Amino acid sequence: MNRPIAHLAGVGSFAPSRVMRNEEFAALGLDTNDEWIVQRTGIRERHVAGPGETNKTMSAAAARVAMSRAGITPGDIDVIVLGTASPDRLLPSTAVDLQAELGASRAAAFDVMAACSSWLYGLIVAEGLMAAGGAQTALVVGTEKLTSIVDWQDRSTCVLFGDGAGAAVLKRSDGSKGILSTFMRSDGTLAELLYRPSGGAAHPFNQQVLDDRSFYVKMEGREVFKHAVRSMSEATDRALDGARLTGADIDLMIPHQANIRIIEATAKHANVSMDKVYVNVDRYGNTSSASIGLALDEAMASGRVKPGSTVLLVAFGAGFTWASLIVRF
Ligand code: UT7
Repeated sequence: MNRPIAHLAGVGSFAPSRVMRNEEFAALGLDTNDEWIVQRTGIRERHVAGPGETNKTMSAAAARVAMSRAGITPGDIDVIVLGTASPDRLLPSTAVDLQAELGASRAAAFDVMAACSSWLYGLIVAEGLMAAGGAQTALVVGTEKLTSIVDWQDRSTCVLFGDGAGAAVLKRSDGSKGILSTFMRSDGTLAELLYRPSGGAAHPFNQQVLDDRSFYVKMEGREVFKHAVRSMSEATDRALDGARLTGADIDLMIPHQANIRIIEATAKHANVSMDKVYVNVDRYGNTSSASIGLALDEAMASGRVKPGSTVLLVAFGAGFTWASLIVRF
């Protein structure tokens, strides 16, 4: 297809007001400390949803900002693609709850489930629908209430994650700006390195599942780390090749915010210096499918993305899934 087809006409995000600092884990009885978490991950604090906050409310807040910046109303949306690894309910999709909340009555709405890559997968799916003529205006949201699916007794995972939402409105490009290249891959043979063993149809809820806590996220951190660096490096190469660019052409790289060491290794591979890499993992932790949208919104608000900027987005997550996208603003 002849690109660019779609451009990001408006971006928005939302994070719950409650900020939890690393020091607070000790009070929960966990054998961890600020020094370990900062050294191994770069995370200092994360936002935690309150009782009234759900993926519906967080994604709607992010979407309203994105829609207002794009100059559209809910009735203009043809399709809502929502990425989440922590859906509000198992049935139906969180996307339809968002649709109802916004009153986007003309839209088709569905979820994509590609863990931390979901927002990039969603943008790529929406661009494809626009290329096929099935949509003129798309709302793509990544939203997570991960604090509800991590085991607060497991120090190896609960310190890593946070809550929030990011959103973008895609509109047809006039050819001067928009998505220049995309790449997406998966490897399901590695699914059990980062997963929730029970609670789905294969192992439905029962007393044993509750007792052994196997409905919470389990992760082999060290293995995931290695694959994250390798896959995000591949993804940056493929997106650059696709757009016929090199790392030197990138004004800003926004990687998925899981761990500062993964971010640094990916930037080094792509030959992008760290002053051209957006980092907010220190303030949000890993917000999975919300992470890149949240970071992009901040980068735009702080003037690090301007009209004409060429931005490289790259993600990796459970599945495994990985994806990348180059977009000109
Ligand atoms: O979103 C995409 C998917 N997720 C990721 O990208 C995460 C990828 N993985 C990582 O970021 C890192 O592997 C972690 C941050 C999860 C862990 O860092 P690491 O340097 O790989 O540490 P490790 O898992 O090898 O653990 C080192 C030690 C262990 O103790 P021993 O066995 O050496 O005695 C752990 O038990 O650190 C211990 N440990 C902790 N200590 C204090 C694990 N978690 C903690 C903790 N506080 N919270």
